[in-house]
Amino acid sequence: MNQTAKPAKAPPRPAATESDWTKLWPSANPRKSEPLLKALHILTRDGALNADSRRKLTQVLHLTQLLKPAIEAMLKEKDDPILADLGAGKSYLGFILYDLLIGPAGKGRVVGVETREKLVETSRQLAAQAGFDRMDFITAPIAEANLPANSSGASHADMVTALHACDTATDDAIRFALRHEAKWVALVPCCQAEVARLLDGHQGPMRQLWRHPIQRREFGAHLTNVIRGLVLEAHGYKVRVTEFTGLEHTMKNELILAERHQLSNAQARSELNRLIDQIGVKPALLDVMAA
Ligand SMILES: C[S@@+](CC[C@H](N)C(=O)[O-])C[C@H]1O[C@@H](n2cnc3c(N)ncnc32)[C@H](O)[C@@H]1O
Repeated sequence: MNQTAKPAKAPPRPAATESDWTKLWPSANPRKSEPLLKALHILTRDGALNADSRRKLTQVLHLTQLLKPAIEAMLKEKDDPILADLGAGKSYLGFILYDLLIGPAGKGRVVGVETREKLVETSRQLAAQAGFDRMDFITAPIAEANLPANSSGASHADMVTALHACDTATDDAIRFALRHEAKWVALVPCCQAEVARLLDGHQGPMRQLWRHPIQRREFGAHLTNVIRGLVLEAHGYKVRVTEFTGLEHTMKNELILAERHQLSNAQARSELNRLIDQIGVKPALLDVMAA
């Protein structure tokens, strides 16, 4: 026996950050999610967390928690529910909801709608690699996208999400939800220019509220979201508006959660009409009120 042999070298310890994330990712087998999380840049290429990816991970988990009650209700109520993610971009929301909730449920489908073909192609590849066979992608503007018809011949989605869909794309998402008779809707609106443009130079008793460009932008964004909430309420949705991330305060930090429980609501419709009369501008979304 060689008395001078060096002690065996201790095996390299996994980086603390690497073991952290598996505790943070609430799936049955976080290691299985690793390639997906790397592809979505929620983990670094080395499979670790840095300050940036940790922030991203915290945000997506927070959003998942906010959407979880609606998704669980949908999975409970429907045989093979469809969640349409509109203005999907890289589809990170759809991938995460599939990984954590829809995949493990063994039923349900996620359909991403996005105009940029390249992003759609990348998402298709990633879904195939991850084995997410109940994910589909449609390359189309939201306004023109129709999901396959159900047994009664109508295009249908059970839940619609639109996360930071630019400007009036959020309104297209509301029209899509109504057209597809979605019971659940979750919107995080993005930059909004339409109402600020309508307010520019618009007179009326409340004109001081939008006198300066920055106020016009902020008041316009606020008014847009108030109108969106009322439009949904008028169509029989219960609407809850809450903070999206809790990490920053911006006009892009509002989460509109809606669940339909009746076909229409006359009181919300009259509140909406009153507001429009008081302010005096009519965004294009009001076209859905004529239907
Ligand atoms: C700011 S990104 C957000 C992407 C993704 N939802 C997310 O939160 O990571 C907005 C995406 O919506 C897409 N988009 C904008 N308007 C659209 C429309 N009318 N129809 C479909 N996609 C649209 C853009 O191409 C872009 O990928």
